[in-house]
Amino acid sequence: MDVKFSLATVVALICIFLLAVPVSVHGGKTKKRLKALEQQFATINEALAEVVRFQQTLDVASIHKQIEENAEYIDSNKASLDKIFASLTSDLTNEVAETKKYIDSKVSTIHGAMTSDILNLQQKINSYQEDSVSETDLNRLLQKKKIAFTARVTPSVTLQSGQTLVFRNIQTNDGNAYSNTTGVFTAPTSGTYVFFVHILGGNRALEMKMMKNEESVMLMYANGPGHGADSNMVILQLTKDDKVKVAKHGPWGTQPFYVHHMWTTFSGFMLYSN
Ligand SMILES: *[C@@H]1O[C@H](CO)[C@@H](O)[C@H](O)[C@H]1NC(C)=O
Repeated sequence: MDVKFSLATVVALICIFLLAVPVSVHGGKTKKRLKALEQQFATINEALAEVVRFQQTLDVASIHKQIEENAEYIDSNKASLDKIFASLTSDLTNEVAETKKYIDSKVSTIHGAMTSDILNLQQKINSYQEDSVSETDLNRLLQKKKIAFTARVTPSVTLQSGQTLVFRNIQTNDGNAYSNTTGVFTAPTSGTYVFFVHILGGNRALEMKMMKNEESVMLMYANGPGHGADSNMVILQLTKDDKVKVAKHGPWGTQPFYVHHMWTTFSGFMLYSN
């Protein structure tokens, strides 16, 4: 039984008792008012009882416990969140470190490769510099390729069948590949050569030819009256030491096979070497 309830009841009873004395003295009207008051007290009493019951139902300890539990829950969640955050931070840190390591290694690899490439290039440049032909050597090589000649027949000659025509008078003989004693041009180097011959004969038919070794490679026919003349040009691919000369083309024409001096020329030059 609640103390407050009993106290309220006692207070109410005392009040009724104190009021009951004058009521009994003054009669009916007062008795009615007392009754109303009594009812009011009963209502107050009810309300008080209600308050007490409500107080009884209030489980402060359980509420406190719940609050604590909630706090614990929040705390535990905070710890777990802290843990997750710490783990994420650590993961991120690791990842950044790994990425940095990866990039560093890549950069180092690229740097290494580039360094070796640069070294290789430098070596190549050095070797090219070593291999490069000196200006003197180059001039010597060019000198070797300077092959050009012009020679004239002098004095006038009469040829036999197949006889080589010797152009004795030399105008130009760069490289000395033409011999004015044999009339033979000897290729000093393999390459492509150009030859030109002009023949001035007498007042009769004259057939001439150019020979590359044993092969006829160009023909000329001159016929009178007065002085018959002919010219021809040939481009020949020669191997080193191939021989080129001008000769009487067999027995063809009209004897004697006269060749006039000075106007009759033999020229040649190397166009390019192989
Ligand atoms: C050949 O040519 C040289 C130089 O031009 C000359 O001195 C020499 O007399 C010529 N030889 C002959 C046989 O004509």
